[in-house]
Amino acid sequence: MKAITGIGIFVVVGLLTAYTVGFQPNLKEQLPYDDEQRGLKDQITIKFSHVVAENTPKGLAADYFSKLVKEMSHDRVEIQVYPNGMLYTENTEVAALRRGDIQMMAPSFSTMSAINPAWLAMDLPFAFENQDEVEQTLNGALGEKLFDTLKPFGLKGVAFWFNGFKQLTSSTKPLRTLNDFHNVKFRIQPSPVIERQFQALGASTSIIPFNEAYHNLAVGNVSGQENTISNIVSKKLYQVQRYMTISNHGYLGYAVVFNKNFWDSLPPDIQEILSEALRKTTEWTNHEAVKHEEDLIFLQKNNSIQIDYLSEEVHKQWKDESKAIYEEFAPKIGRDLMKYIPGP
Ligand code: LMR
Repeated sequence: MKAITGIGIFVVVGLLTAYTVGFQPNLKEQLPYDDEQRGLKDQITIKFSHVVAENTPKGLAADYFSKLVKEMSHDRVEIQVYPNGMLYTENTEVAALRRGDIQMMAPSFSTMSAINPAWLAMDLPFAFENQDEVEQTLNGALGEKLFDTLKPFGLKGVAFWFNGFKQLTSSTKPLRTLNDFHNVKFRIQPSPVIERQFQALGASTSIIPFNEAYHNLAVGNVSGQENTISNIVSKKLYQVQRYMTISNHGYLGYAVVFNKNFWDSLPPDIQEILSEALRKTTEWTNHEAVKHEEDLIFLQKNNSIQIDYLSEEVHKQWKDESKAIYEEFAPKIGRDLMKYIPGP
């Protein structure tokens, strides 16, 4: 009898528990909907993939943009930033954006040249004398024409973010004269212009994704590379290189690009918020974040890399020799675009 009563109590308690837990109304569905507090179904997520570290101009800009959008949209839009090539490398990110697997990216101009060779104009050696020239050129007709090349690929260019001028590093010898380039093998970005720039100096090249540069330099698959000081410091490339030459021979910058279908599907007020946040971020990154003094001071104090400055004479010699590359690539880039590049 006791056993039967026990089983009875057990069944009743079980049923009550099941009712309480299982048949309660879904609390999520009861969340109030208003402009201040929107439900999860109104949340817009934008995946933003890039290949550099968080503490670089691009990494900082991505972070700044993400916070600004969160604030300006009152949490309605979340920019999920994936740095360091953790989702895609420069070989795969453009295809991922076109498929819509990510919605936004900021690849280097070299990476963009795989879509259309017009972007190679930005890789030409000694294309720009200083940062102002870069800005004036990209904010003018050239910038518009470069963005026009993206439309047939379902991409929408929305801004240019800057990193800075590239410097040279090597593990075998200091690069002080043009002869010093002979037999150095450089890790390069995917760009026929950069490949030619080094070949013309008697060097060889290997296209290697940014995140594999450290390893390939460390094991000696390549002995040199070119990059901005912030990339050299943040990726610790100085640890596997012995010499650095301040040459300012080329420019590294980024196109900020959206998947166009995704952009077009956004409500107009969100597009407006994103545009305004991009405008603010671009202004901030291009005038605040692009400062390399601290990274250069770090390298000077660090002593693990010897720093040379390209002499005026060698600089001029290299510039003069580069003119042949302009002639060679003009048909590929398009002479109409070449006229916007100040050049050597
Ligand atoms: C590189 O591959 O050296 C750079 O383009 C990486 C980057 O995006 O700054």
